[in-house]
Amino acid sequence: MDPVTTAVAVVLLCILAYRFLWGRATSFEERGIQCMKPWPIVGNMAPVLFPRQFFGDYLRDVYFKFRDLKYFGFYNLTSPMIVIRDPELITAIAVKNFDHFSDPLMGKNLFALRGDTWRDTRKLLSPAFTSAKMKAMFKLIIDCAEKTSAFVAQESKKGRAWDTQDLFRRYANDVVATCSFGIAVDSLKNPDNDFYKLGRETLNFGTWVSLKMLIGRNFPTISWLLGIKIFGSRPRKFFTKVVADTTRVRDEKGIHRPDMIQLMMDSHDKDGKRLTQQIAAYRKIAEGQATYDVLKEITYMDAVIDKTLRMYPVIAFLDRIRVKEFELPPAKPGAKPVKVKPGESLWCLPIGLHHDPKYYKDPENFRPERFLNGEVPPNAYLPFGLGPRICIGNRFAIMETKILLYHLMKSCVLGPCEKTTVPLRFSPKTVMILPLTGYWMNIRTKKDESKANGHVSNGRTNGTVS
Ligand code: HEM
Repeated sequence: MDPVTTAVAVVLLCILAYRFLWGRATSFEERGIQCMKPWPIVGNMAPVLFPRQFFGDYLRDVYFKFRDLKYFGFYNLTSPMIVIRDPELITAIAVKNFDHFSDPLMGKNLFALRGDTWRDTRKLLSPAFTSAKMKAMFKLIIDCAEKTSAFVAQESKKGRAWDTQDLFRRYANDVVATCSFGIAVDSLKNPDNDFYKLGRETLNFGTWVSLKMLIGRNFPTISWLLGIKIFGSRPRKFFTKVVADTTRVRDEKGIHRPDMIQLMMDSHDKDGKRLTQQIAAYRKIAEGQATYDVLKEITYMDAVIDKTLRMYPVIAFLDRIRVKEFELPPAKPGAKPVKVKPGESLWCLPIGLHHDPKYYKDPENFRPERFLNGEVPPNAYLPFGLGPRICIGNRFAIMETKILLYHLMKSCVLGPCEKTTVPLRFSPKTVMILPLTGYWMNIRTKKDESKANGHVSNGRTNGTVS
């Protein structure tokens, strides 16, 4: 090909690529939806691709740019998304009109399954989170929490500060290993165990994984053709083998254990009796049951956790794809209603709602009491999402957190240390909420604390929590 033809071909290809990538991203203006001014190709996602600011902070700023609107437009690269700000409209979409918007955007786990596959999988998994199952798993979690607080108490004698992100991550790893896979690991004493290392690899939502998620969302076909997988092949192979081996051994040896893998095995069986027998056995764990109920009554701890999830929601945005015809009401008085197009995506931003003074008086104030005295509007508090696609593990997550806090605070005093960052700062390199430099804390046993203070501790000292 001569140089002139080559140059013309390159220019034509660039124009075609530009039109393909950018063609979709012009629709808001035509439909009268107010939006942020997009950049070609990157849309409104430049701060995510060239990270300067924590993604959640960016989304919160975006949310507050459109104060008087029920919704506005946002370009996720070249994909136009309608961001719903109004809690009532969010409920109408995610709960009342669930059939119109049931599918989230991406991935290969329950998070991302669609239509009937999602419905069937959700039905299969839901029984794992009933009260009876939670009580059964309670004892397993207590073992992990006791192990963790004993380790902390022992190590604290050496006088060290703790990166609580690392500490709690190891605890959460051991809880998942025992409750989901029926495997006992000790990630504090054995920090390099495969389960922990590969679990970390799976949940490493760094820049590269965030980018793969963006590509998967915006160009699913290209992503599929290139064989882009969110999770690496090593962890996938490892966990698939763990499940296969555990299932085989249990079947061969007739082992039953009150955990999630058992639930999967039982539901494969299609034999209702087996499940019923198990629930009866779980109820016999009398100690677990009593403590479970006691823990349920510590409502102030719930309020503190709720408050933390309000100020720092782990997932800053929720998404749904329109699967059936739907019309949005006008975004403000005098505006026109808007038809949501087939396949179009909607977002809502818990990170914005949770800091909006319209719903939370003095939103930056640490006041867990607001969760105890009915001040929190339920449709403006969405750390676990909402509607039929609400986080399936929400009660499990709260239980797991409460158990560890209970055990730590029973024997230790928690407080800031030299490395603690106030206020908290989060990494701009990921779409998840991860600390910039760890969550550092000083944790000392109550015994050591009272020795240091020269008196018998009542568990409370200035600037510490017990
Ligand atoms: C503090 C901890 C957690 C938070 C903040 C959280 C938050 C969320 C959120 C916001 C969603 C999306 C909901 C929506 O789109 O409306 C979700 C979905 C989900 N979560 Fe969680 N989650 C947590 C812990 C867990 C745990 C411990 C498990 C499992 C044991 C779990 C399993 C799931 C699953 C399977 C889904 C997808 C549900 C579906 O699409 O049907 N999560 N979670």
